[in-house]
Amino acid sequence: MTTFNIVGTGNMAKAIGGILADGGSPVSYVPKNQVGVTVLDGDVVVLAVPYPAVASVVSAYADQLDGKVVVDITNPLNFETFDSLVVAPGSSAAAEIQAKLPNSRVVKAFNTTFAATLVTKKVGSAQTTVLIAGDDSTAKQTLAAAVTAGGVAAIDAGSLLRAHELEAIGFLQLTLGVSEKVGWAGGFAVVA
Ligand SMILES: NC(=O)c1ccc[n+]([C@@H]2O[C@H](COP(=O)([O-])OP(=O)(O)OC[C@H]3O[C@@H](n4cnc5c(N)ncnc54)[C@H](OP(=O)(O)O)[C@@H]3O)[C@@H](O)[C@H]2O)c1
Repeated sequence: MTTFNIVGTGNMAKAIGGILADGGSPVSYVPKNQVGVTVLDGDVVVLAVPYPAVASVVSAYADQLDGKVVVDITNPLNFETFDSLVVAPGSSAAAEIQAKLPNSRVVKAFNTTFAATLVTKKVGSAQTTVLIAGDDSTAKQTLAAAVTAGGVAAIDAGSLLRAHELEAIGFLQLTLGVSEKVGWAGGFAVVA
């Protein structure tokens, strides 16, 4: 059974942790004030923190993340303007994290699903789908198996380069949410 550490205890941490627990995966959480204190003993570490917090979390755990699957769920927006991403053009938050953690297997996932759609496991009438990008097939399969066991669908979206497109989708979806053109329980569904 794959074990998970989730860094963060907010909306996404709880929603993702709920799915993993529903699928029978052991999950433990690292609250903000325990970052760098709590030992990461899971096979997979989910960084369920805002993008600006990722650098300090990665730096606090650089050694412990060696060899682990690291899941980046961030939408790295400029939250003052809601008009741009803050990563370099063509790049992604996930690529930045992989560059900082060359011995980890970074995957991008969950950034295109609003938290509420992970809790209900539905986007409208469709089952919620977690799109997963990364360079390590086993890492992607491990995450996909854990989330499908928990009742949502998963699709391999390609290599870590596709994190750029996933972050663009997440960006657009957030702008639609903030402008109340879609509800927080809605957004983009994937029909396979
Ligand atoms: N909400 C969504 O629907 C959604 C959808 C897709 C992706 N995302 C992404 O998911 C991530 C988490 O979003 P969220 O909605 O779960 O946010 P949230 O409810 O505000 O939770 C954020 C969590 O990160 C912790 N945190 C903040 N700064 C930190 C730091 N410097 N070091 C360690 N931990 C820190 C917070 O701790 P405290 O509460 O103690 O401050 C909290 O536990 C973000 O990157 C977001 O872009 C969110």
